[in-house]
Amino acid sequence: MKLKSQLNNVIKDAFIKAGIEHTPMAVSEATKPEFGDYQFNGAMALSKKLGLNPREIAQNIVNHLDLTGVLSKAEIAGPGFINLWLNPLWIASQCQVALRDERLNVSTRENPIKVVVDYSGPNMAKQMHVGHLRSTIIGDTLANLLTFLGDEVIRQNHIGDWGTQFGMLIAYLEETGEDASVSLKDLEQFYKDAKGRFDADAAFADKAREYVVKIQSGDTHCLQLWQKFIDISLGHCEEVYEKLGVNLTRDDVRAESFYNDDLAKVVSDLQIAGKLEESDGAQCVFLEDDEVPVIVQKGDGGYLYATTDLAALRYRAQVLGAKRISYVVDARQAGHFKQVFTVAKTSGFVPEDVKLEHIAFGTMMDKGGKPFKTRDGGTVKLIDLLDEAVVKAKETINNKEAYSSEEIDSLAKIIGIGAVKYADLAINRESNYIFNWDKMLSFEGNTSLYMQYGYARIQSIFRKFDGKIDGEIIIGDDLERRLAVMLLRFEDVLNRAAEDASPNQITTYLYELVTLFMRFYEQNPILKEGVDIHTKMSRLQLADLTAKTIKQGLDILGIQVVDKL
Ligand code: ARG
Repeated sequence: MKLKSQLNNVIKDAFIKAGIEHTPMAVSEATKPEFGDYQFNGAMALSKKLGLNPREIAQNIVNHLDLTGVLSKAEIAGPGFINLWLNPLWIASQCQVALRDERLNVSTRENPIKVVVDYSGPNMAKQMHVGHLRSTIIGDTLANLLTFLGDEVIRQNHIGDWGTQFGMLIAYLEETGEDASVSLKDLEQFYKDAKGRFDADAAFADKAREYVVKIQSGDTHCLQLWQKFIDISLGHCEEVYEKLGVNLTRDDVRAESFYNDDLAKVVSDLQIAGKLEESDGAQCVFLEDDEVPVIVQKGDGGYLYATTDLAALRYRAQVLGAKRISYVVDARQAGHFKQVFTVAKTSGFVPEDVKLEHIAFGTMMDKGGKPFKTRDGGTVKLIDLLDEAVVKAKETINNKEAYSSEEIDSLAKIIGIGAVKYADLAINRESNYIFNWDKMLSFEGNTSLYMQYGYARIQSIFRKFDGKIDGEIIIGDDLERRLAVMLLRFEDVLNRAAEDASPNQITTYLYELVTLFMRFYEQNPILKEGVDIHTKMSRLQLADLTAKTIKQGLDILGIQVVDKL
């Protein structure tokens, strides 16, 4: 339910009835319980336009406000704020609707669009490291969220599978012979060994260079070796996706090499559009307000990261037909995206009405505030980090006797992976992110465990109750109504998170919701003796809707719930 727009409509009606010929400002959530559920703060701005006292305007609006449907009370406060209280009967009926609906009464968009979400994008020459973790997690969440809201999402994994280093790697692959899958087990090591050979042996280095040319000119043998290398390498990434529970498949891969045949055309089309200038032998596009040009072709004829991204932008807008293209990539690439977006728009590669956005995120740091590294200073491999998360999660399981060993393993996976994902999603994505095992695996605070625990706690109520629920939701005390209003806000939260591409709006919401539920449950027992049957039924339904909302929210974040914890 789009709660806010319902309220905005009520205000709009009051404006019409009051004869105010202006579009009302949108309502906002009240910042304190005593200010009601929502506030309308538009009277102050109107006072200048209308030359009237803001309290008078507020009074005029309140006089015409319908207090028999969505709202039940309005109060003028301070210089002309209007505090608004939702009608408990209406709240109850809307919660009931949400509870009966699979989608919790979250509608799908009236005008869905095609959205490309570009995320993960690991480089094939190396193991995925923690730097790719954030892109993968945030991107997957964004894709899940937009899908849930009804957009047609096209996931794109822009893997780095092209470049001169592949000559060296393939020459080395050929040299090491038959068992590629064994020698490529540790990509990092393979890369180091290949580089070692390259630096030590001139003949090998020549061969590597020769291979670069051969791959680029489409030599079948070299391409076969290259393909083998990519397959194995991508297999490593897929192992990580699998562990993470991320929805990326081979079909989503549109590698850098996919655009090879377009690169020359990108350059010649820029030439035709009159955008190119030669500088030091390189083909460049110079932009206003930017000292550094976008180089699209080097003096030796080679193409660059930017050229490929221009080809990809054109493909996504013109072939895939995307209306929104979102790049979930490290903030350090902000300059690159700003440039290629400008070039793509000004040279007609991407139509004006297509929204291009760089969903930037900060760096992952250790507790000491340094970029995250292994003890000996190497990059932390993602797969090791995820395995460690599961081991640590196992330690948090309290009453191990209550589970079989398979159950413990599966629980540890859900908790451990959930913790890593949630901790990443819960911070403002543009901030650097401090990786802290203890914090992320805590039952308290804004963590996945807290949400999973809240969910499991509600499930345990239902196990104890073990009966049939019927009857109505009745909004009784203040905590009850606040919980119910919070539940009705879900759709607004999802839409705003989608609009801003900021998953932390969902985590913040879930945290408030679970915290509110815990307080509600403490004060309002459900199964205790003496609670009358109507109240019991009502509270059970609110608990049920809370659990379903937690589950749906976590599902969008790619995190599972468990019934027992
Ligand atoms: N492979 C790149 C990197 O690791 C990320 C690719 C992002 N996507 C893009 N279309 N440039 O930095």
